[in-house]
Amino acid sequence: MSDLTPIDPTMTPAWEALDLRADTFDPDLREWFAADPQRTQKWTLSAADLYVDLSKNLIDEDVLDDLLALAEQTNVAQLRDAMYAGEHINVTEDRAVLHTALRRPATDTLMVDGQDAIADVHAELAKMYAFAERVRSGEWVGITGKPVETVVNVGIGGSDLGPVMAYEALAPYVQEGLKCRFISNIDPTDAGETTKDLDPETTLVIVASKTFTTLETITNAKVVREWFLNALRERGLATDEASTAEAISKHFVAVSTALDKVAEFGIDPANAFGFWNWVGGRYSVDSAVGTALAIAIGPEGFADFLAGFHAMDRHFAEAPARENVPLIMGLLNVWYGNFLGADTHAVLPYSQYLHRFPAYLQQLTMESNGKSVRRDGTPVTYDTGEVFWGEPGTNGQHAFYQLIHQGTRMVPADFIAFANPAWPLADGDADMHELFLSNFLAQTKALAFGKTSEEVRAEGTAEEIVSARVFTGNRPTTSIMAPSLTPSVLGQLIALYEHITFVQGAVWGIDSFDQWGVELGKVLAKQIMPAIEGDAAALAAQDQSTRALIEYYRKHRG
Ligand code: F6P
Repeated sequence: MSDLTPIDPTMTPAWEALDLRADTFDPDLREWFAADPQRTQKWTLSAADLYVDLSKNLIDEDVLDDLLALAEQTNVAQLRDAMYAGEHINVTEDRAVLHTALRRPATDTLMVDGQDAIADVHAELAKMYAFAERVRSGEWVGITGKPVETVVNVGIGGSDLGPVMAYEALAPYVQEGLKCRFISNIDPTDAGETTKDLDPETTLVIVASKTFTTLETITNAKVVREWFLNALRERGLATDEASTAEAISKHFVAVSTALDKVAEFGIDPANAFGFWNWVGGRYSVDSAVGTALAIAIGPEGFADFLAGFHAMDRHFAEAPARENVPLIMGLLNVWYGNFLGADTHAVLPYSQYLHRFPAYLQQLTMESNGKSVRRDGTPVTYDTGEVFWGEPGTNGQHAFYQLIHQGTRMVPADFIAFANPAWPLADGDADMHELFLSNFLAQTKALAFGKTSEEVRAEGTAEEIVSARVFTGNRPTTSIMAPSLTPSVLGQLIALYEHITFVQGAVWGIDSFDQWGVELGKVLAKQIMPAIEGDAAALAAQDQSTRALIEYYRKHRG
């Protein structure tokens, strides 16, 4: 058993060294690149299929030495090994953290709490793959004998963001004739708009919820069941108890760790796919939570996806510290956030298919590392979890890049691009993907090297607007490239960010695997509901602002 007592990172010699270094740090990427023609080669690493160019970061050998020392002095590698081994590193929930076990080969063994986790994972995968194959082949039919055309995933947070992000990212791999839709928000608009044009006879609903108690998901699942049964009844179907039960069993399946609650909801546990409490919601897209994806891209595609995760897991576990991409990227984030004053971090995929990737990363990183106390409950005295955000390029260029280029805040950014497009379109002679990539390259170049006042003047710019047209440069970016956005590469990218998040949490000594911060709002929403419905005592019990808002609502609701 490892000693999981967190270390206050600010008390380490490495933190002190970084603090001192930051005081006099005066990065000059133009100068650094000019002085060292090998800089890009030195600072470019590879991890599985990813080519990761760190050379445009504000880092030199001294900073790297101190950051690696910080990782050592805060026991990052020990915590990583404890995580991979199934120790209960999620201390506030007393749980193992084993998303890495979800993608290990069937030949491995890993005993967790007296049970072989790898055998369990592969048994469940086999069940999910067999089901996915039945749906894809048309063998699984609905109540009127028609094959499934639309899969509706009802879930929220980790039970939604991963599946929808990966489904969108892997669109070229989706079987023709099949589509997925996703309902997450308890705003009735979401269920209403998503079901309004669906044919219940060809719809399969997956209710995905780790706990099977989440208000949004259970409410949406009930509403969708109501829509489904009403639509069938309008067609003279599902008119008695037996045919209703048959319709539900053919059109509703579940994914959960709580199979008893699945049965209570009315879904046959034989049509449920399980996972384990050692899989955090935001780390679960590679478990049965990915059932919609497995149906869409098929078992082979899903197995490739898992292989991609596993390749990155191995890299994180085995690559030496100086070549370890998640380790160094996580430490760079600590450098920027704790020593150079960055509050946010942008993720900018130059791939329309990755348009939900920043949203996915927001849950992964911010639910994991938005914490103010360490694993032992002691308060932190330093910043944790930066705000992650982003949009696909080039859309972001015409929206918020202005602030990244010339604003007063430092926004470290990750740029992601692929050599091969899924759509090889051209505008006359101009290959569109190359136009796209020239933007990807131009942005990191402009951010790193900027444009001096002399260069602006040399263009004949009027003196009074020279300063407005100067780019300071020295704005840090990481460029990540891969040959193509395949299922495996997507798995590698997700695992990369999982481990970056892990490294940051480990340095900060926090529990990156609980999420107590989302609980209070859930409890209060339940208490407020009666007040909205008109219960005078419940209304009187509210604070003045909440009471006034409820009164406004009741007055204006038609
Ligand atoms: O509210 C936060 C959260 O618990 C997330 O961590 C989780 O991914 C989401 O809710 C959904 O939870 P469940 O899968 O149990 O419905």
